Amino acid sequence: MTDRPPERIGALAVVRTVADLRRVIAAWHRTGERVALIPTMGALHRGHLALVEHGRRAARRTVASIFVNPTQFAPSEDFARYPRDEAGDAAKLASAYCDLLYAPDVGEVYPAGFAATVTAGPIAEGQDGRFRPGHFQGVATVVTKLLLQSRADVACFGEKDYQQLLVIRRVARDLDIATRIDGVPTVREPDGLALSSRNVYLTPAERAIAPALHRTLLHVADRIETGAAGIAAATAEGLAALERVGFARIDYLEVCDAETLAPLTTPGRPGRVLAAAWLGQTRLIDNVALRARPGH
Ligand code: PAJ
Repeated sequence: MTDRPPERIGALAVVRTVADLRRVIAAWHRTGERVALIPTMGALHRGHLALVEHGRRAARRTVASIFVNPTQFAPSEDFARYPRDEAGDAAKLASAYCDLLYAPDVGEVYPAGFAATVTAGPIAEGQDGRFRPGHFQGVATVVTKLLLQSRADVACFGEKDYQQLLVIRRVARDLDIATRIDGVPTVREPDGLALSSRNVYLTPAERAIAPALHRTLLHVADRIETGAAGIAAATAEGLAALERVGFARIDYLEVCDAETLAPLTTPGRPGRVLAAAWLGQTRLIDNVALRARPGH
């Protein structure tokens, strides 16, 4: 990096090795500039760009990473067909005033002989952890590496993947990683569907059904918050509503403690309503906050 000019895609500087990443960030840190990291798997949309905007408010410099992490996909999942568009992503990052793209290849992240893993314990075992065995271990391991590689001051993650955010918070706290972990609210389409790189898989008919997921979660939360239904009854109503509108398979719809993700039994603590359900070949996840009802 000192000998050759940095690679650029359009207006955006790109590094592909840990050594180059560290050199650029160390230079920023030497001049007192704070650095925000935005880890992604690419196929960027406005949800990712909201993380960049959050990062720009939190730190002078922003670094986005793009790495489709093989270890967080099960063999049956969509690793091979996951959408990839580095040039398009770089243009979006440049227009969001991101300072640097870190795009390592698989061999840089997992060199020959790589064997260590990071697991987060109980927070990773329910909900998505139950239906995607090994997924959160893959996420926790790669995010730990990205945090240690970058030594960022702040890292930004979307509430869209609420359990992932809690897993990363747990790991950073438990392993004394100094990076602050910030959560950013979910960015949605006007009809409520959470933006996701996987939405491109939806057929027009599935796309028309998809917003019902968010609508249902809001309805479940509202029934509990207003006291119109208990947690069990509201959950059953939500499941029935998803089936009725055409979700072929529902992995889970759960009302959980917002911090531990343990089942919430009374509405006296802040909660989260989380669900994962399938439309055809596409698995959608979403979640909404549940306000505590004092006195319960
Ligand atoms: P990816 O699905 O590309 O998401 C990257 C980040 O963008 C995550 O923090 C995710 O929560 C956030 N995000 C996605 N959709 C969003 C939306 N609609 N609104 C707000 N934020 C949104 O999540 C991953 O990649 C990977 O697991 C990763 C953390 C990069 C580790 O490989």
